[in-house]
Amino acid sequence: MFRSEYQIFCTVLSRMRQPESTLGTMNFNPGDSVGFVGWRGMVGSVLMKRMVEEGDFEGITPVFFTTSNVGGQAPTFDGVLEPSELKDAYDIDELRKHSIIVTAQGGSYTEAVHPKLRAAGWDGLWIDAASTLRMNDDSIIVLDPINRDVIDRGLASGVKDYIGGNCTVSCLLMGLGGLFKNDLVEWATSMTYQAASGGGARHMREVLAQFRDLGNEVAAELDDPASAILDIDRKVLAKQRSGELDSTQFGVPLSGSLIPWIDSDLGNGQSREEWKAEVETNKILGRFADDKVTMDGLCVRIAAMRSHSQALTIKLKKDLPLEEIERIIAEDNPWVRFVPNEREASMEQLTPVAASGSLEIPVGRVRKLAMGPEYISAFTVGDQLLWGAAEPIRRMLQIAVGKL
Ligand code: HSE
Repeated sequence: MFRSEYQIFCTVLSRMRQPESTLGTMNFNPGDSVGFVGWRGMVGSVLMKRMVEEGDFEGITPVFFTTSNVGGQAPTFDGVLEPSELKDAYDIDELRKHSIIVTAQGGSYTEAVHPKLRAAGWDGLWIDAASTLRMNDDSIIVLDPINRDVIDRGLASGVKDYIGGNCTVSCLLMGLGGLFKNDLVEWATSMTYQAASGGGARHMREVLAQFRDLGNEVAAELDDPASAILDIDRKVLAKQRSGELDSTQFGVPLSGSLIPWIDSDLGNGQSREEWKAEVETNKILGRFADDKVTMDGLCVRIAAMRSHSQALTIKLKKDLPLEEIERIIAEDNPWVRFVPNEREASMEQLTPVAASGSLEIPVGRVRKLAMGPEYISAFTVGDQLLWGAAEPIRRMLQIAVGKL
Protein backbone atom coordinates (compact mmCIF):
# COMPACT_ATOMS: atom_id res chain seq x y z
CA MET A 1 0.00 0.00 0.00
CA PHE A 2 1.34 3.50 -0.81
CA ARG A 3 1.74 5.93 2.09
CA SER A 4 -1.18 8.08 0.86
CA GLU A 5 -3.47 5.06 0.58
CA TYR A 6 -2.41 3.92 4.02
CA GLN A 7 -3.25 7.31 5.50
CA ILE A 8 -6.67 7.41 3.79
CA PHE A 9 -7.28 3.91 5.21
CA CYS A 10 -6.35 5.18 8.70
CA THR A 11 -8.65 8.18 8.31
CA VAL A 12 -11.57 5.94 7.31
CA LEU A 13 -10.88 3.66 10.26
CA SER A 14 -10.81 6.59 12.68
CA ARG A 15 -14.17 7.83 11.33
CA MET A 16 -15.72 4.45 12.08
CA ARG A 17 -14.85 4.87 15.75
CA GLN A 18 -17.79 5.10 18.17
CA PRO A 19 -18.36 8.49 19.84
CA GLU A 20 -16.27 8.91 22.97
CA SER A 21 -17.52 10.69 26.04
CA THR A 22 -14.59 12.30 27.70
CA LEU A 23 -13.47 15.64 28.98
CA GLY A 24 -9.94 14.45 29.51
CA THR A 25 -9.71 13.99 33.25
CA MET A 26 -13.34 15.05 33.72
CA ASN A 27 -16.50 13.34 32.46
CA PHE A 28 -19.46 15.25 31.10
CA ASN A 29 -22.75 14.04 32.51
CA PRO A 30 -26.13 14.76 30.90
CA GLY A 31 -27.16 16.97 33.83
CA ASP A 32 -24.04 19.12 33.56
CA SER A 33 -24.52 22.60 32.24
CA VAL A 34 -22.88 24.47 29.42
CA GLY A 35 -22.47 28.24 29.63
CA PHE A 36 -22.89 30.26 26.42
CA VAL A 37 -21.40 33.73 26.08
CA GLY A 38 -21.68 35.92 22.97
CA TRP A 39 -24.58 33.97 21.51
CA ARG A 40 -26.24 37.09 20.05
CA GLY A 41 -23.44 38.50 17.86
CA MET A 42 -22.87 37.48 14.26
CA VAL A 43 -20.81 34.33 14.87
CA GLY A 44 -22.83 33.51 18.00
CA SER A 45 -26.11 33.78 16.08
CA VAL A 46 -24.85 31.46 13.35
CA LEU A 47 -23.68 29.05 16.06
CA MET A 48 -27.08 29.08 17.79
CA LYS A 49 -28.90 28.58 14.49
CA ARG A 50 -26.72 25.58 13.65
CA MET A 51 -27.19 24.12 17.14
CA VAL A 52 -30.96 24.40 16.85
CA GLU A 53 -30.91 22.90 13.33
CA GLU A 54 -28.86 19.93 14.51
CA GLY A 55 -30.78 19.41 17.78
CA ASP A 56 -27.59 20.01 19.73
CA PHE A 57 -29.35 21.37 22.81
CA GLU A 58 -30.75 17.91 23.53
CA GLY A 59 -28.93 16.31 26.44
CA ILE A 60 -27.27 19.46 27.69
CA THR A 61 -28.42 22.15 30.10
CA PRO A 62 -27.59 25.49 28.51
CA VAL A 63 -27.12 28.61 30.60
CA PHE A 64 -26.88 31.92 28.74
CA PHE A 65 -24.66 34.78 29.81
CA THR A 66 -24.72 38.44 28.85
CA THR A 67 -22.36 41.39 29.09
CA SER A 68 -25.18 43.94 28.92
CA ASN A 69 -28.56 42.60 30.03
CA VAL A 70 -28.16 40.66 33.30
CA GLY A 71 -31.50 39.32 34.49
CA GLY A 72 -33.04 39.65 31.02
CA GLN A 73 -34.76 36.83 29.18
CA ALA A 74 -32.47 34.14 27.77
CA PRO A 75 -33.31 32.87 24.27
CA THR A 76 -35.74 29.98 23.89
CA PHE A 77 -35.35 29.63 20.11
CA ASP A 78 -39.10 29.38 19.53
CA GLY A 79 -39.75 26.92 22.30
CA VAL A 80 -36.69 24.70 21.82
CA LEU A 81 -35.53 25.77 25.29
CA GLU A 82 -37.35 26.59 28.51
CA PRO A 83 -37.43 30.28 29.45
CA SER A 84 -34.57 31.29 31.73
CA GLU A 85 -32.69 34.32 32.97
CA LEU A 86 -29.47 35.76 31.57
CA LYS A 87 -26.46 35.59 33.90
CA ASP A 88 -23.59 38.04 34.21
CA ALA A 89 -20.78 37.08 31.82
CA TYR A 90 -18.21 38.72 34.12
CA ASP A 91 -19.34 36.85 37.25
CA ILE A 92 -16.56 34.29 37.77
CA ASP A 93 -18.49 32.40 40.47
CA GLU A 94 -21.44 32.02 38.11
CA LEU A 95 -19.26 30.95 35.18
CA ARG A 96 -17.33 28.37 37.19
CA LYS A 97 -20.50 26.40 37.93
CA HIS A 98 -20.42 25.03 34.39
CA SER A 99 -18.42 22.13 32.99
CA ILE A 100 -18.04 23.82 29.62
CA ILE A 101 -18.05 27.46 28.55
CA VAL A 102 -18.64 28.24 24.88
CA THR A 103 -17.85 31.81 23.87
CA ALA A 104 -18.17 33.82 20.68
CA GLN A 105 -18.04 37.09 22.61
CA GLY A 106 -14.69 38.15 21.14
CA GLY A 107 -11.06 38.54 22.11
CA SER A 108 -11.39 41.30 24.72
CA TYR A 109 -13.84 39.20 26.69
CA THR A 110 -11.53 36.18 26.56
CA GLU A 111 -8.60 38.32 27.69
CA ALA A 112 -10.59 39.73 30.59
CA VAL A 113 -12.30 36.58 31.84
CA HIS A 114 -10.34 33.44 30.93
CA PRO A 115 -7.30 34.11 33.20
CA LYS A 116 -9.55 34.97 36.16
CA LEU A 117 -11.61 31.84 35.67
CA ARG A 118 -8.55 29.62 35.53
CA ALA A 119 -7.00 31.46 38.51
CA ALA A 120 -10.19 30.69 40.43
CA GLY A 121 -9.46 26.99 39.91
CA TRP A 122 -12.02 26.28 37.19
CA ASP A 123 -10.88 23.28 35.16
CA GLY A 124 -13.75 23.00 32.70
CA LEU A 125 -13.48 23.14 28.94
CA TRP A 126 -13.25 26.59 27.36
CA ILE A 127 -14.43 26.51 23.73
CA ASP A 128 -13.77 29.85 22.08
CA ALA A 129 -14.24 31.41 18.64
CA ALA A 130 -11.80 34.28 19.36
CA SER A 131 -8.13 34.19 18.43
CA THR A 132 -6.71 35.23 21.84
CA LEU A 133 -5.69 31.77 23.09
CA ARG A 134 -5.14 30.14 19.69
CA MET A 135 -1.38 29.95 19.67
CA ASN A 136 -0.94 29.21 23.39
CA ASP A 137 1.05 26.03 24.01
CA ASP A 138 -1.76 24.61 26.12
CA SER A 139 -4.58 25.17 23.61
CA ILE A 140 -5.79 23.20 20.61
CA ILE A 141 -7.18 24.72 17.42
CA VAL A 142 -10.34 22.81 16.59
CA LEU A 143 -11.23 21.63 13.09
CA ASP A 144 -12.25 18.05 13.72
CA PRO A 145 -12.68 16.81 10.12
CA ILE A 146 -9.00 17.65 9.78
CA ASN A 147 -7.54 17.14 13.25
CA ARG A 148 -9.84 14.86 15.24
CA ASP A 149 -6.76 12.90 16.29
CA VAL A 150 -5.14 16.04 17.75
CA ILE A 151 -8.39 16.93 19.58
CA ASP A 152 -8.79 13.42 20.98
CA ARG A 153 -5.19 13.35 22.19
CA GLY A 154 -5.75 16.76 23.78
CA LEU A 155 -8.87 15.61 25.60
CA ALA A 156 -7.18 12.45 26.79
CA SER A 157 -4.18 14.37 28.09
CA GLY A 158 -6.24 17.01 29.90
CA VAL A 159 -6.01 20.01 27.55
CA LYS A 160 -8.79 22.42 28.55
CA ASP A 161 -8.79 25.22 25.95
CA TYR A 162 -10.24 24.49 22.47
CA ILE A 163 -10.12 27.41 20.10
CA GLY A 164 -11.57 28.03 16.63
CA GLY A 165 -9.01 28.71 13.90
CA ASN A 166 -8.59 31.68 11.62
CA CYS A 167 -11.37 31.55 9.04
CA THR A 168 -9.14 31.44 5.97
CA VAL A 169 -7.00 28.69 7.45
CA SER A 170 -10.01 26.60 8.47
CA CYS A 171 -11.69 26.97 5.07
CA LEU A 172 -8.42 26.18 3.27
CA LEU A 173 -7.85 23.02 5.27
CA MET A 174 -11.45 21.89 4.91
CA GLY A 175 -10.97 22.15 1.15
CA LEU A 176 -7.45 20.83 0.69
CA GLY A 177 -6.95 18.84 3.89
CA GLY A 178 -6.45 15.64 1.92
CA LEU A 179 -3.17 16.88 0.47
CA PHE A 180 -1.88 17.96 3.88
CA LYS A 181 -3.01 14.83 5.74
CA ASN A 182 -1.30 12.66 3.16
CA ASP A 183 1.91 14.64 3.66
CA LEU A 184 2.01 15.65 0.01
CA VAL A 185 2.62 19.38 0.44
CA GLU A 186 6.19 20.68 0.37
CA TRP A 187 5.03 24.32 0.47
CA ALA A 188 2.01 26.38 -0.44
CA THR A 189 1.20 29.99 -1.10
CA SER A 190 -2.29 31.25 -0.50
CA MET A 191 -3.50 34.48 -2.09
CA THR A 192 -6.76 35.33 -0.37
CA TYR A 193 -9.91 37.16 -1.38
CA GLN A 194 -11.51 37.75 2.01
CA ALA A 195 -15.09 38.85 2.53
CA ALA A 196 -16.31 41.80 4.56
CA SER A 197 -17.79 39.51 7.24
CA GLY A 198 -14.26 38.71 8.44
CA GLY A 199 -14.18 42.24 9.83
CA GLY A 200 -17.58 41.94 11.50
CA ALA A 201 -21.24 42.82 11.05
CA ARG A 202 -20.63 46.57 10.76
CA HIS A 203 -18.10 45.96 8.00
CA MET A 204 -20.72 44.10 5.96
CA ARG A 205 -23.14 47.00 6.33
CA GLU A 206 -20.44 49.46 5.33
CA VAL A 207 -19.72 47.62 2.08
CA LEU A 208 -23.39 47.61 1.14
CA ALA A 209 -23.83 51.27 2.04
CA GLN A 210 -20.85 52.16 -0.14
CA PHE A 211 -22.29 50.21 -3.07
CA ARG A 212 -25.60 52.02 -2.56
CA ASP A 213 -23.95 55.44 -2.47
CA LEU A 214 -21.85 54.70 -5.54
CA GLY A 215 -24.93 53.45 -7.40
CA ASN A 216 -26.91 56.54 -6.43
CA GLU A 217 -24.11 58.77 -7.66
CA VAL A 218 -24.53 57.53 -11.22
CA ALA A 219 -28.15 56.33 -11.16
CA ALA A 220 -29.30 58.66 -13.95
CA GLU A 221 -26.39 57.75 -16.23
CA LEU A 222 -26.91 54.03 -15.62
CA ASP A 223 -30.52 54.33 -16.70
CA ASP A 224 -29.48 56.09 -19.88
CA PRO A 225 -27.96 53.61 -22.38
CA ALA A 226 -26.54 56.56 -24.33
CA SER A 227 -24.43 57.82 -21.42
CA ALA A 228 -20.66 57.37 -21.72
CA ILE A 229 -19.09 54.69 -19.53
CA LEU A 230 -15.96 56.80 -19.00
CA ASP A 231 -18.14 59.58 -17.53
CA ILE A 232 -19.74 57.05 -15.18
CA ASP A 233 -16.33 55.71 -14.21
CA ARG A 234 -15.02 59.24 -13.56
CA LYS A 235 -17.97 60.06 -11.27
CA VAL A 236 -17.64 56.77 -9.36
CA LEU A 237 -13.91 57.31 -8.85
CA ALA A 238 -14.48 60.90 -7.74
CA LYS A 239 -17.00 59.66 -5.17
CA GLN A 240 -14.62 56.95 -3.96
CA ARG A 241 -11.86 59.54 -3.54
CA SER A 242 -14.09 62.28 -2.12
CA GLY A 243 -13.97 61.14 1.49
CA GLU A 244 -17.79 61.18 1.46
CA LEU A 245 -18.26 57.40 1.48
CA ASP A 246 -18.55 56.11 5.03
CA SER A 247 -15.36 54.06 5.50
CA THR A 248 -15.32 54.03 9.29
CA GLN A 249 -14.82 50.28 9.57
CA PHE A 250 -12.36 49.50 6.80
CA GLY A 251 -10.57 52.87 6.79
CA VAL A 252 -10.77 53.31 3.01
CA PRO A 253 -13.52 52.54 0.49
CA LEU A 254 -13.77 48.83 -0.25
CA SER A 255 -16.74 48.72 -2.63
CA GLY A 256 -15.51 48.87 -6.19
CA SER A 257 -11.96 48.45 -4.87
CA LEU A 258 -9.93 46.11 -2.62
CA ILE A 259 -7.60 46.39 0.35
CA PRO A 260 -4.36 44.38 0.16
CA TRP A 261 -3.76 44.28 3.91
CA ILE A 262 -5.69 42.47 6.67
CA ASP A 263 -5.01 42.72 10.40
CA SER A 264 -1.98 44.34 12.02
CA ASP A 265 1.51 44.99 10.62
CA LEU A 266 4.09 42.62 12.07
CA GLY A 267 6.86 45.00 11.04
CA ASN A 268 8.61 42.53 8.75
CA GLY A 269 6.47 43.19 5.70
CA GLN A 270 3.97 40.52 6.68
CA SER A 271 0.46 41.11 8.00
CA ARG A 272 -0.76 39.17 11.01
CA GLU A 273 -3.39 37.51 8.83
CA GLU A 274 -0.63 36.25 6.51
CA TRP A 275 1.43 34.99 9.47
CA LYS A 276 -1.53 32.92 10.70
CA ALA A 277 -1.54 30.75 7.57
CA GLU A 278 1.62 28.83 8.41
CA VAL A 279 1.50 28.81 12.20
CA GLU A 280 -2.15 27.83 12.46
CA THR A 281 -2.06 25.27 9.65
CA ASN A 282 0.81 23.46 11.32
CA LYS A 283 -0.72 23.70 14.77
CA ILE A 284 -4.03 22.29 13.49
CA LEU A 285 -2.21 19.44 11.80
CA GLY A 286 -0.12 18.78 14.91
CA ARG A 287 3.11 19.46 12.99
CA PHE A 288 6.01 21.20 14.62
CA ALA A 289 9.55 22.36 13.81
CA ASP A 290 10.97 19.44 11.82
CA ASP A 291 7.92 18.44 9.83
CA LYS A 292 6.15 21.75 9.41
CA VAL A 293 4.74 22.80 6.06
CA THR A 294 5.98 26.16 4.76
CA MET A 295 3.10 28.48 3.87
CA ASP A 296 2.95 32.15 3.02
CA GLY A 297 1.04 34.52 0.78
CA LEU A 298 -0.86 37.78 0.60
CA CYS A 299 -4.19 38.38 2.29
CA VAL A 300 -6.56 40.73 0.49
CA ARG A 301 -9.96 42.09 1.47
CA ILE A 302 -12.56 42.24 -1.28
CA ALA A 303 -16.17 43.39 -1.26
CA ALA A 304 -17.71 39.90 -1.01
CA MET A 305 -20.20 39.46 1.80
CA ARG A 306 -19.45 36.30 3.84
CA SER A 307 -17.38 33.79 1.89
CA HIS A 308 -13.61 33.85 1.76
CA SER A 309 -11.82 32.61 -1.38
CA GLN A 310 -8.22 31.60 -1.83
CA ALA A 311 -6.04 30.97 -4.86
CA LEU A 312 -3.26 28.54 -4.07
CA THR A 313 -0.01 27.49 -5.61
CA ILE A 314 1.16 24.24 -4.07
CA LYS A 315 4.44 22.44 -4.51
CA LEU A 316 3.82 18.77 -3.97
CA LYS A 317 6.50 16.47 -2.62
CA LYS A 318 6.15 14.29 -5.69
CA ASP A 319 4.70 14.20 -9.17
CA LEU A 320 1.29 12.53 -8.89
CA PRO A 321 -1.22 12.02 -11.70
CA LEU A 322 -3.83 14.80 -11.72
CA GLU A 323 -6.65 12.26 -11.26
CA GLU A 324 -5.07 10.99 -8.05
CA ILE A 325 -4.62 14.53 -6.73
CA GLU A 326 -8.28 15.26 -7.47
CA ARG A 327 -9.38 12.03 -5.78
CA ILE A 328 -7.36 12.75 -2.63
CA ILE A 329 -8.86 16.25 -2.40
CA ALA A 330 -12.43 15.12 -3.15
CA GLU A 331 -12.45 12.16 -0.77
CA ASP A 332 -10.97 13.87 2.26
CA ASN A 333 -14.18 14.83 3.99
CA PRO A 334 -17.90 14.92 3.20
CA TRP A 335 -17.97 18.73 2.84
CA VAL A 336 -15.52 19.04 -0.04
CA ARG A 337 -17.31 19.74 -3.29
CA PHE A 338 -14.82 19.10 -6.04
CA VAL A 339 -15.46 21.38 -9.01
CA PRO A 340 -14.08 20.21 -12.36
CA ASN A 341 -11.56 22.61 -13.83
CA GLU A 342 -13.96 23.85 -16.48
CA ARG A 343 -15.24 27.32 -17.27
CA GLU A 344 -18.97 26.86 -16.68
CA ALA A 345 -18.56 24.80 -13.51
CA SER A 346 -16.04 27.28 -12.07
CA MET A 347 -18.26 30.26 -12.81
CA GLU A 348 -21.34 28.64 -11.30
CA GLN A 349 -19.97 26.63 -8.38
CA LEU A 350 -16.71 28.23 -7.30
CA THR A 351 -17.77 31.69 -6.14
CA PRO A 352 -18.63 33.37 -2.84
CA VAL A 353 -22.23 33.61 -4.05
CA ALA A 354 -22.36 29.84 -4.59
CA ALA A 355 -20.67 28.96 -1.28
CA SER A 356 -22.44 31.36 1.10
CA GLY A 357 -24.88 29.79 3.53
CA SER A 358 -23.59 26.31 2.77
CA LEU A 359 -21.35 23.94 4.67
CA GLU A 360 -19.93 22.68 1.40
CA ILE A 361 -16.44 23.83 0.51
CA PRO A 362 -16.08 24.08 -3.26
CA VAL A 363 -12.54 23.32 -4.48
CA GLY A 364 -11.60 23.75 -8.12
CA ARG A 365 -9.17 25.17 -10.68
CA VAL A 366 -6.91 22.23 -9.86
CA ARG A 367 -4.31 21.80 -12.59
CA LYS A 368 -0.62 21.26 -13.07
CA LEU A 369 1.27 24.53 -13.46
CA ALA A 370 3.92 25.45 -16.01
CA MET A 371 6.61 25.51 -13.31
CA GLY A 372 6.84 21.71 -13.27
CA PRO A 373 4.89 18.50 -12.63
CA GLU A 374 4.91 18.91 -8.83
CA TYR A 375 3.33 22.38 -8.98
CA ILE A 376 -0.44 22.65 -8.86
CA SER A 377 -2.98 25.43 -8.57
CA ALA A 378 -6.23 25.28 -6.62
CA PHE A 379 -9.05 27.66 -5.74
CA THR A 380 -11.28 27.24 -2.70
CA VAL A 381 -14.27 29.12 -1.31
CA GLY A 382 -15.83 28.75 2.10
CA ASP A 383 -18.53 30.42 4.15
CA GLN A 384 -16.49 32.39 6.65
CA LEU A 385 -19.22 32.25 9.29
CA LEU A 386 -19.83 28.49 9.03
CA TRP A 387 -16.63 26.42 8.64
CA GLY A 388 -14.67 29.64 9.13
CA ALA A 389 -16.13 30.33 12.58
CA ALA A 390 -19.22 28.68 14.08
CA GLU A 391 -19.12 25.08 12.82
CA PRO A 392 -15.80 23.96 14.34
CA ILE A 393 -16.99 25.40 17.68
CA ARG A 394 -20.37 23.66 17.43
CA ARG A 395 -18.72 20.35 16.63
CA MET A 396 -16.17 20.72 19.42
CA LEU A 397 -19.01 21.06 21.91
CA GLN A 398 -20.58 17.91 20.45
CA ILE A 399 -17.27 16.08 20.83
CA ALA A 400 -16.89 17.33 24.40
CA VAL A 401 -20.32 16.07 25.44
CA GLY A 402 -19.71 12.72 23.74
CA LYS A 403 -22.18 13.10 20.86
CA LEU A 404 -19.69 13.21 17.98
N1 HSE B 1 -9.27 37.59 10.32
C1 HSE B 1 -10.35 37.18 9.50
C2 HSE B 1 -10.72 38.26 8.54
C3 HSE B 1 -11.54 36.86 10.36
O1 HSE B 1 -10.45 39.41 8.83
O2 HSE B 1 -11.27 37.96 7.49
C4 HSE B 1 -11.77 35.41 10.60
O3 HSE B 1 -10.81 34.72 11.34
